[in-house]
Amino acid sequence: MKVLVTGGAGFIGSNLIHLMLAEAPDLEITNLDKLTYAGNLENLADVADSSRYRFVQADVADANAVDRILADGFDAVLHLAAETHVDRSLEDAAPFLRTNVLGTQVLLEAVRRHGVKRMVHISTDEVYGSAPPDASFDESAALLPSSPYSASKAAADLLVFSYVHTFGLPVVILRCTNNYGPYQFPEKLIPLMIANALEDRPLPVYGDGLQARDWIHVEDYSRAILAALRAGRAGEIYNVSAGRPRTNLEVIRTLLALLGKPESLITFVQDRPGHDRRYALDSSKFRDELGWAARRSFEEGLAATVEWNRANAAWLERCRSGAYRDYYQRHYVDRGKTLASWQG
Ligand code: NAD
Ligand code: DAU
Repeated sequence: MKVLVTGGAGFIGSNLIHLMLAEAPDLEITNLDKLTYAGNLENLADVADSSRYRFVQADVADANAVDRILADGFDAVLHLAAETHVDRSLEDAAPFLRTNVLGTQVLLEAVRRHGVKRMVHISTDEVYGSAPPDASFDESAALLPSSPYSASKAAADLLVFSYVHTFGLPVVILRCTNNYGPYQFPEKLIPLMIANALEDRPLPVYGDGLQARDWIHVEDYSRAILAALRAGRAGEIYNVSAGRPRTNLEVIRTLLALLGKPESLITFVQDRPGHDRRYALDSSKFRDELGWAARRSFEEGLAATVEWNRANAAWLERCRSGAYRDYYQRHYVDRGKTLASWQG
């Protein structure tokens, strides 16, 4: 099966590609990524020369480029490319609308035109907004996004529904909770706190730190995406979660204990405007229909993530300094592997 992954140089995409190359020998993967600040090809350096993998740099909102790539003939598209950081969307929402909304529309149009038989659209739990205490949202909950990021993701979901409804496009939507694990860019809570703690810098906790997130290890989510690719029903939404929300302070205290660092590093800072208090999903539909279950406990996954960041201190440092951006120049541009060389 020829599979196009968009956003494959990011956190979830690169973990997913590793998993597919390791465990799904029937899949041949093309990674379409614009390489924004969040795209890091070093994440995929170990598989760059695999005969089942290739990379093409392109903007998912560039209709000509996407059309040219899709003309190569794909059996399936896994759409992960997005602007993803809530804080950035508060500073400038424009790239979020361009990539997350227009990019999704461009891709849907190309999928339609080229008759791709399957697409998995990667949405987020944030489209439902903040969950009341002790309640969790199932797939029928109203969309009530709070930030420009989550509003752009909700808009993308609505576009997907319109293409499913009007053109019968075979798209499965996944809405997942917060991921963590290897290769997560150190702007997100867990890798940022690990990186700061390793350098004995303050850990900036927004507001009172009692906001709750339901963390899932990225390998478990990658398996969920593969399951949706193989067996998800077209036109359906599936929530995906581990099912145990915990507060940011709880997570940060566990991290500090794992790192052997003092709680005095915790520094309360001004809250994120519009900060969602709690995310919680009912993901029984996905578990029951697809037989999926998270394999890693949070305790085990967090310890492994701390170890991964320690063992990959050079990777973390190159993310923090910006040096990771040289990699594409040296390994792709200098070797002539750019979009201009696509299909010769
Ligand atoms: P990320 O920010 O780590 O990576 C995003 C990738 O998309 C990067 O490689 C970037 O270069 C690429 N990209 C951005 N704009 C692009 C464009 N215009 N054209 C092509 N590529 C572009 O993101 P992530 O955390 O891996 O998230 C992947 C997807 O999963 C996103 O759709 C996100 O909304 C969704 N999601 C993430 C989480 C999470 O906790 N990380 C949870 C639920 C859903
Ligand atoms: O829920 C899924 C979403 O999870 C994805 O759709 C998003 O792409 C992803 O970025 C993530 O959004 P969050 O805003 O939940 O993740 P973030 O890591 O930015 O923050 C997690 C929590 O930690 C949140 O309550 C804000 C808080 N936080 C975050 C940072 C970066 C802090 O207290 N301090 C920080 O410095």
